[in-house]
Amino acid sequence: MLFKQFFEPETSTFTYLMACEKTKQAVLIDTVESEVPVYLQELDSQGLKLVYTLETHVHADHVTGADALRQKLGSKSVVHRDAGAMCGDLLVTDGVHIIVGTLDLEVRYTPGHTNGCISFFVGDRIFTGDSLLIGGCGRTDFQSGDSGQLYDSIHSKIFSLPDEVIVYPGHDYNGNTQSTVGEERKNNKRLGGGRSREDFIKILSELKLAYPKFIDVALPANQACGRVIPGQAA
Ligand SMILES: [Fe+2]
Repeated sequence: MLFKQFFEPETSTFTYLMACEKTKQAVLIDTVESEVPVYLQELDSQGLKLVYTLETHVHADHVTGADALRQKLGSKSVVHRDAGAMCGDLLVTDGVHIIVGTLDLEVRYTPGHTNGCISFFVGDRIFTGDSLLIGGCGRTDFQSGDSGQLYDSIHSKIFSLPDEVIVYPGHDYNGNTQSTVGEERKNNKRLGGGRSREDFIKILSELKLAYPKFIDVALPANQACGRVIPGQAA
């Protein structure tokens, strides 16, 4: 399997490229519109064919490159059926396997940060979007977020995996690039060490977070897969 992690510094967003070495078919997870030229160059230099752009959720902090890539390369956008993005070519739910050459990506429904969040489990690694971050988790105070639901999602769909499974999150603000299920189960500041559901809900309710900078532009644009909507300032 070919694998590459990209980092967009303005919003500290990770994008992931995975490709089947045999068929040269590729997927990108959580693209950022401003970085599309970087992805195009990488795909071209490795001779890869982009089949899908996968969204872990509808992002509030950056605009997806899904539509730009769809226009240029004919890739299909994949999003959870409850994400509120009916522009997706493939609306998926828990348990769906996305097969691309020898790649097998299992969709795990992990709501709580938003009601349309999914993680992608691929053998030795899981892409957790904003559900589970390194040492933390996504906020739950907008986009139908629910702290109790997030706790349950992380425990049943991520912490249930073996310790050594690698965790690749949607963002990191502290210079980390990856973690493991075992590390997060033990040391995650909000969830680790067997933290109770009650405590977790309390911690999240006491976070004093600023209104997200780009949400008014990013949400409507992402509900349209990154397409510029007439009348919107995207
Ligand atoms: Fe998010």
